[in-house]
Amino acid sequence: MLKGKKILIGITGSIAAYKTVLLVRELAKSGAEVQVICTKSALDFITPLTLSTLSQNPVYSDFLIDSKSGEWTNHVRLGKWADLFVIAPLSANTLSKLVHGLCDNLLLATFLSADCPIMVAPAMDLDMYHHWTTQQNLSNLRKNGVKVIDVGDGELASGLVGKGRMAEPEDIYKAIGEYFDVQSKLSGRKILITAGPTYEKIDPVRFIGNYSSGKMGYSIAQEAFERGCSVTLISGPTALPRPGEGIDFISVESAEEMLSAVDSHYHVADVVIMSAAVADYRPKHVFQDKQKKESKGLNAIELEETTDILKSLGKQKNHQFLVGFALETNDELANGRRKLENKNLDMLVMNSLNDKGAGFGTDTNKVTFIFPEGNIEHSLKDKRAVAKDIFDAIENRI
Ligand code: CTP
Repeated sequence: MLKGKKILIGITGSIAAYKTVLLVRELAKSGAEVQVICTKSALDFITPLTLSTLSQNPVYSDFLIDSKSGEWTNHVRLGKWADLFVIAPLSANTLSKLVHGLCDNLLLATFLSADCPIMVAPAMDLDMYHHWTTQQNLSNLRKNGVKVIDVGDGELASGLVGKGRMAEPEDIYKAIGEYFDVQSKLSGRKILITAGPTYEKIDPVRFIGNYSSGKMGYSIAQEAFERGCSVTLISGPTALPRPGEGIDFISVESAEEMLSAVDSHYHVADVVIMSAAVADYRPKHVFQDKQKKESKGLNAIELEETTDILKSLGKQKNHQFLVGFALETNDELANGRRKLENKNLDMLVMNSLNDKGAGFGTDTNKVTFIFPEGNIEHSLKDKRAVAKDIFDAIENRI
């Protein structure tokens, strides 16, 4: 899987740098083309000679290679050359610089010029790792599509014990392998995702809505982005931060607005995942002015059905792989299968309000995938892990 892949390794100043030597060796042994950039502090821990011998390429650490001849390292070329840029170890200092767009060394300049996916393996002492600034910086990287390989738990260089060790070279190697593995299947596919609730207006200050937080749909969008897909996320109102730049984001309010946004993207989509909790009904009449108590205008609101977006997609389906969601409270599997068939779906993700930790607002979900050929039940997982399961299942079928 790694043969011929162009992997750029960035090394920053941390004792874990010695482990990256093993990573470079393994990548080169697997047939990957490896180039290495070190920060000045990284060179306090390892030598360029070791890395150039193992990678069979020069090791870069300076903008200027030879001041007499004016030979310089082209960071743009390095960033464009790579299929994947892995920064391991990533120190707290470089982490902070990456997030703030600083550019005072070759590694940072290459990060800013790179248009390939980026992976980082942080390494630092446990208090530094748990510090809120570090946590915010890591979450900022994640939000912007950088894959963060979790730190390990154990003995640290300081003698303290806890979280902060760089992931082991074999785990980083595995993450790289997995990245190229899924890339080859879904890379470049167009994925259309809906998320969140819809709000159906009653008057200028009131609406009918539901408890959907949008977390599931946003996690699905992030997962699709990390798998190299071209992602469009159509979202109803949520309190979540807007996804990073690589995701095409369309904000809507009502079921009708969601329908029209979905319609205009449907024909080019390869996979459509309707995780939004679309309102089934909306007020038949929307008051232009705020309704006063005395007017009794809100005593009875007449409702009309919204268009079932998913059902209409199922009717028009040609090449698309269509995924629906269902939240049930009883007869879950039978109801789920009925929806799969009625809406002409390829897959239905069913969650039950009877399962603790599943459904609206939580960070976790417990789902069963319903396919025409059978069901697959999953355990309780965080929503990002559920998103991974969804894509693994889709990949196996398209
Ligand atoms: N959905 C939709 N448009 C609607 C309502 C629902 O596209 N107006 C989609 C949701 O995004 C979800 C799926 O349909 O993927 C399931 O919605 P649900 O409301 O559970 O299905 P219904 O067929 O409306 O059944 P129920 O009677 O249980 O509400």
